[in-house]
Amino acid sequence: MKIAIYPGSFDPVTSGHMDIIQRSSRIFDKLIVAVLENKRKTPSFTVEERMEMIRKASADLPNVEVGTFSGLTVDYARLCNANAIVRGLRAISDFESELAMAAMNKRMAPELDTVILFTSSEWSFISSSVVKEMCSFGGDIHGLVPDCIAEEVQNKLQGCGGIK
Ligand code: PNS
Repeated sequence: MKIAIYPGSFDPVTSGHMDIIQRSSRIFDKLIVAVLENKRKTPSFTVEERMEMIRKASADLPNVEVGTFSGLTVDYARLCNANAIVRGLRAISDFESELAMAAMNKRMAPELDTVILFTSSEWSFISSSVVKEMCSFGGDIHGLVPDCIAEEVQNKLQGCGGIK
């Protein structure tokens, strides 16, 4: 059984993330979307909120599960018996950091491979930060995040005056 984890902050999950989730769920038997709980950062959404939004948005994908971790990605991947770590690449600007992360992960866990999917071009400009910025200044985020969570994201972030 081919199992992959897709780690990230997902604060909040965007249409770009969903593109990667949908496509990688067709490649692997099981995909675990792994939400990082980073104690050094203050996210806009709690881990539970982020996980629930991903669950809602991927409800039609039976082989997708949602988990959370707070340490190294490779440790969580091993815990999940995963063979691969999925990451999305939006543009060349993502390349250096993704290459460094993949190299570090390979050094720590040689049995795991990083599988990079190129984000579909229509989503290549979207990030959680851009969504939060737009939202906080009253911009319309419909289409940038899954429809089923757009209202929740908007309600939480609208008028908060900047990225948190
Ligand atoms: O959505 P993001 O913020 O780009 O995701 C980054 C993430 C969570 C994949 C990365 O920060 C991560 O793996 N953090 C856990 C610690 C770790 O394993 N770092 C990689 C080795 S340097």
